[in-house]
Amino acid sequence: MIAAAGNETTTRLIGWTGKVLADHPEQRRALVENPSLVSGAIEEILRFEAPSPVQARYVMRDVEYYGVTVPAGSAMLLLNGSANRDDRKFGDGDRFDIHRRFDNHLSFGHGIHFCLGAALARLEGRIALEEVLRRFPEWEVDWDNAVRARTSTVRGWERLPVHTA
Ligand code: HEM
Repeated sequence: MIAAAGNETTTRLIGWTGKVLADHPEQRRALVENPSLVSGAIEEILRFEAPSPVQARYVMRDVEYYGVTVPAGSAMLLLNGSANRDDRKFGDGDRFDIHRRFDNHLSFGHGIHFCLGAALARLEGRIALEEVLRRFPEWEVDWDNAVRARTSTVRGWERLPVHTA
């Protein structure tokens, strides 16, 4: 469980980091100039492109949400990646902004099953980005050879080759 949960997810986070910062070179430049922004940037990347965007639950007893009864025995899919862009919580949620400040997002889940490895994932994401920026402050994605990873649980990039400056 720990090997699987801790492996593909962080790989996807690092892939999204490459993609999103290539799409926002001015924000990438700000990170090169001020590495203290990197932790906040990883948090914003997690919010903006949730590596694990849906969580499934079996419904144990009848429950009512928003006037609708969900019967016991149903399967329910919680769209945490979508909630991460809810304008009521994150103003202009479809906009990527490393300077955005917020108390939490839902990319590590919520409640009793909150991700056991969240602190490690954040550490890996920060160190990976710091080291890449130190060596390669600019890159462009080689879209002809980029391949999306399509699984039922985790989303990201199977391959994301880049050209560096
Ligand atoms: C960016 C990286 C990661 C993301 C986005 C992520 C996301 C999540 C999410 C959304 C859940 C909640 C699942 C649910 O509610 O059904 C979860 C649970 C879990 N994660 Fe992570 N995870 C990441 C990295 C890691 C790492 C590095 C480890 C361990 C080394 C880990 C271990 C676990 C375990 C064991 C659970 C189950 C916790 C429980 O059910 O009590 N994850 N993760």
